Amino acid sequence: MAAATQQELPFHLRGNYAPVHEELTAFDLPVRGAIPPELRGLYLRNGPNPKSGSSPHWFTGDGMVHGVRLENGRAAWYRNRWVRTRMLEDPSLSFVSPDGVVDRTIGVANTNVIGHAGRIFALVESGFPTELGRELETVGLCDFDGRLTTAFTAHPKRCPKTGELHFFGYGFFPPFLTYHLLDAKGRLVRSLEIPVKGATMVHDFAITERHVIFMDLPVVFDLEIALADTGFPYHWSDDYGARLGVMPRDGGVADLRWYEIEPCYVFHPWNAFEDAEGRIVLDVARYPELWRETANKFDTAVAHRFTLDPKSGRVREQQLDERAIEFPRVDDRRGGTRHRYGYAVAAVGGADEGFRGLLKYDLEKGGSVEHDFGPGRATGEGVFVPAGRGEDEGYVLSFVYDAETNGSVLAILDAHDFAKPPLATVALPQRVPFGFHGNWVAD
Ligand SMILES: [Fe+2]
Repeated sequence: MAAATQQELPFHLRGNYAPVHEELTAFDLPVRGAIPPELRGLYLRNGPNPKSGSSPHWFTGDGMVHGVRLENGRAAWYRNRWVRTRMLEDPSLSFVSPDGVVDRTIGVANTNVIGHAGRIFALVESGFPTELGRELETVGLCDFDGRLTTAFTAHPKRCPKTGELHFFGYGFFPPFLTYHLLDAKGRLVRSLEIPVKGATMVHDFAITERHVIFMDLPVVFDLEIALADTGFPYHWSDDYGARLGVMPRDGGVADLRWYEIEPCYVFHPWNAFEDAEGRIVLDVARYPELWRETANKFDTAVAHRFTLDPKSGRVREQQLDERAIEFPRVDDRRGGTRHRYGYAVAAVGGADEGFRGLLKYDLEKGGSVEHDFGPGRATGEGVFVPAGRGEDEGYVLSFVYDAETNGSVLAILDAHDFAKPPLATVALPQRVPFGFHGNWVAD
């Protein structure tokens, strides 16, 4: 690896995708601007950071969580820690044995980090959650007292009304898809196998006040790649078809109804809700296709709305914008209910500039406001943190990389006045590699 020039490396090992090599702890970080004093908690973000310095695919590097603690208008500390998984300690481990047995205790824990029921979990969709402490130390694997027997998605959905956490697990082998529910106290209270045609990559899903929505999309498991261990074992299928499954939250598979849609892939929805006519509206970042040739190729997604009509059984599809986006987020207090605003990373400086900014879409009335971090900069997912009752009363937090300094900051934007310069930027003691998802864990 040392001999390879930057240009010979795959994208995920170059520039700010490349891993960092040290775990740092820094206190009282320098701040430009003023951190809103009501922000008391942890901003956490997970992402792949292969300890060996290399991984076959961006998605397969060891998880590392970067965290900043905010309190009383101060940035009290920054920490970055690898999630201490079995794989980190022994890289020769694989979660699928040569005879096809899957071990959910083996995984990279690199995709998301959430708080639920007073606990913090690092998540990857191939295995069990790993619990972390409040200083990002690894506590250990969690299988909910032995009740969880499948993987746990990196994208569970909390119902803001009940405090329950809806999630699912998917796998290469049957059962391909299983729906689960944690109650507000964090107990696994329901598991239900969802019948699908085959093994596809099911990255995320959505809930409404009364339903859960599964995405059964044509990126299918590739046994050849898996056995050869040559990359991420999924590819686009022209034959599989695409559909959305809607199941009442208080129902079972007999009530599950599938809606055909145009073939596409969706990693991430913004949110879903039921309108006054009982239609289900699902807003997403949609790829017209994904990984036709190779899973190491960059495809791009745009904002898209599905409206599912239970009376006709049909789906209305609307492309909402032309700009490349990803990492859609809403005010999580709106989870499952009507949202107006949606945030996303966006190529605001043009496709060559990467994700230089964040967009705030008005998904109800149309239009968008962009926050451009400027040339040479690139942002990760923007996480909305509420600070008032209104849907955009609060802040949007993200890590922003600056190629000129090869460093990163935590940027705090005013969600309501989105285009104006950040309210505060917190200088971090090292760059934060581009990663996946995170959340605000309030005190
Ligand atoms: Fe994701």
